[in-house]
Amino acid sequence: MRSLVLGLQFGDEGKGKITDFISGKDSVLVRYNGGTNAGHTVVTGKGTFKFHLLPAGSLRSKTIVLGNGMVIDPEALISEIKTILPENPELRILVSSAANVVTKLHKAIDKSQEEMRGASKIGTTSHGIGPTYEEKYSRNGIRIEDLKDVNIVRKKLSLISKMRESELRGTEYQSEEKLDELANELASSWPSIKNFVTRTESFLFESVRSGEEMVFEGGHGTLLDIDFGSYPYVTSSNTVSGAIHTGSGVSLRKINRIIGVIKSYTSRVGEGPFPTELKGQEADKLREAGSEYGTTTGRPRRVGWLDIPLIKYASELNDVDELSITKLDVLGAFKEISICKSYDHSITNPMNVLLGFEKTVPEYITMDSWGILKESEIQHIVETGYKSVPQEMKDYIGTIEKMCNKPVKIISIGKIRESTIIKE
Ligand code: GDP
Ligand code: IMO
Ligand code: MG
Repeated sequence: MRSLVLGLQFGDEGKGKITDFISGKDSVLVRYNGGTNAGHTVVTGKGTFKFHLLPAGSLRSKTIVLGNGMVIDPEALISEIKTILPENPELRILVSSAANVVTKLHKAIDKSQEEMRGASKIGTTSHGIGPTYEEKYSRNGIRIEDLKDVNIVRKKLSLISKMRESELRGTEYQSEEKLDELANELASSWPSIKNFVTRTESFLFESVRSGEEMVFEGGHGTLLDIDFGSYPYVTSSNTVSGAIHTGSGVSLRKINRIIGVIKSYTSRVGEGPFPTELKGQEADKLREAGSEYGTTTGRPRRVGWLDIPLIKYASELNDVDELSITKLDVLGAFKEISICKSYDHSITNPMNVLLGFEKTVPEYITMDSWGILKESEIQHIVETGYKSVPQEMKDYIGTIEKMCNKPVKIISIGKIRESTIIKE
């Protein structure tokens, strides 16, 4: 089986938990887009693991691949490997030689661009992601393979610094000494990573040919896609299913199962439209119940009710086979739950609302909640399976299935790894 796990909302849907759940000890796991702007959490008996570059199933799988579509901060990579490898010492790690390198200079540009945008800032993670993709597409990017030669890195840094003069003005990255220092620092990461670096697409072709169990993990969420998302309040990579081809070399035709992950409500970090956003006390209540603080930046996440028009759009765009719903336990904090079932009928594409081109008042239905689940109730559901899920929760899930015309196959009712249930 070759599966793809991706988010259908604004990121942080709980993809990491689902990737970990469906990954086995023999799986080959692949990340193909983004960088440390992603933050995927897995909670096991041993603690909380936050993945930014490595796929979330790394704790127990055989091989992980960081594809060419990623932008990689070498320092962050080395530090994440140091944390994860002791948990899974046999793990084989492969990093694409063609992936682009995020440098401190790109982080400085990210900050400077946000300052220049002023009131229309995007609210990026300031991890240098956008500027690194800009570098890639302007064909001046530093690639992982360049790290082996300090002179290549230094030459590229000079060009980048020259071309981006106005963005770097007032930062230290205009001095020759600082660029020397940065080049040396980047090249010094090579000995730690060189054994992982390869043309990963060749390895992946072979994995497909030999029928390996494979799981591809998308970063971010569909509504943050650079083309289809709520531009300009998006990330700088494609987050839709098709990105696996350009980001790893593996054709989407080779994927048997596309799992669209949704949170049982909606959250968003950073700026941009959010039609079902809650404000005030209700928002605070949902944020606290769901511990909605960014995995990467710690920022409080904006929260709101489930938005079916956007999920239907995202599931069609990604051609998902099934849905997975996470954080169902969280909605137990409310007596009544709302779902945005539709927008105004005159709106043909819900993205027009998200882009601010058309206005609408979301149309809601309300449903009874299942109440806060006790630990013992969650334990009972985990032991006995979907049949023990409270009827109100089954109704909520059934309503989503009907409205989206997609089956729900996996649900999550708690933080820890075990609280994930397969719906028969
Ligand atoms: P990702 O970026 O899509 O992988 O999601 P994040 O890890 O950024 O955010 C999801 C957060 O929700 C993490 O803190 C998870 O531990 C947590 N989480 C995932 N599933 C559940 C669930 O079913 N219930 C609760 N309460 N927390 C969950
Ligand atoms: P995961 O994989 C939530 C958001 C940022 C910001 C915008 C652009 O954990 O779901 P960037 O630094 O990418 O240029 O920021 O995109 N963003 C995410 N929000 N989850 C993510 O990833 C995100 N990746 C980017 O908050 O609004
Ligand atoms: Mg996240």
